[in-house]
Amino acid sequence: MSLYAIGDLHLHFGSQLKAKAQLTDRVWRDHERKFRRWCESTLSPKDTLVLVGDHSWGRNMAEAAPDLEYIRALPGRKILTRGNHDMFWDAKKTARLNEQFAGELRFLQDNYYPYRDYALVGTKGYTFEGPFRADRRGKILDWDRAEEAHAEKLVERELLRLRTSFEAAKADGYKRFIMFLHYPPTNIMERESAFTRMAEDYGAEQVVYAHCHGETRFHDSIMGTLHGVQYSLVSGDYLRWQPIKVLN
Ligand SMILES: [Fe+2]
Ligand SMILES: [Fe+2]
Repeated sequence: MSLYAIGDLHLHFGSQLKAKAQLTDRVWRDHERKFRRWCESTLSPKDTLVLVGDHSWGRNMAEAAPDLEYIRALPGRKILTRGNHDMFWDAKKTARLNEQFAGELRFLQDNYYPYRDYALVGTKGYTFEGPFRADRRGKILDWDRAEEAHAEKLVERELLRLRTSFEAAKADGYKRFIMFLHYPPTNIMERESAFTRMAEDYGAEQVVYAHCHGETRFHDSIMGTLHGVQYSLVSGDYLRWQPIKVLN
């Protein structure tokens, strides 16, 4: 029995949308087949796989349905968090999704899921991604202040959702936490954030996040241990479609 995580499958069985990298970068070639093969050869029915957002390019449930069916058919217990591209998933209607896919898929939003003596908590998260103005060496000189102010509002909303998730687990007596975000916990200007502080305040042992694609973005945020919390990037192209083991 093990806990695994990966993010950013960006499936498109039911839609014509694709990111440019999916058409041009080798790592994305046949990625659905590579990932399914890994799952079928590695996961047992007792394992748990957390999929950390950007599951589908579908613009609505009808377009996302074949992608969710692909995920449903993978071995093990599947838990999903929201990504910025998951248009099929209205955060306010998560309970309805959990009813619709009961026993098949678990949607993590304003709730938590147990794993051994841990609570798996999480939300989409958010982080300011610019635009930034940098010099030729990449040193940031300035950024879009209006966008930054807008981002702060979205961060506040996501922090409330994350707190709801932690508090639901705490109310049920959980003391050990693994925290999942789709967005990285910090932006490229930050060394800490309200998300890293929340992880520390609740004593989360690990923070697992995705969203960062391509060589130039893999190091946008924290990797490794900081203030006793282990941070892991699990975007699918970074992991080359092999999920990390989060816990035994
Ligand atoms: Fe993504
Ligand atoms: Fe994303």
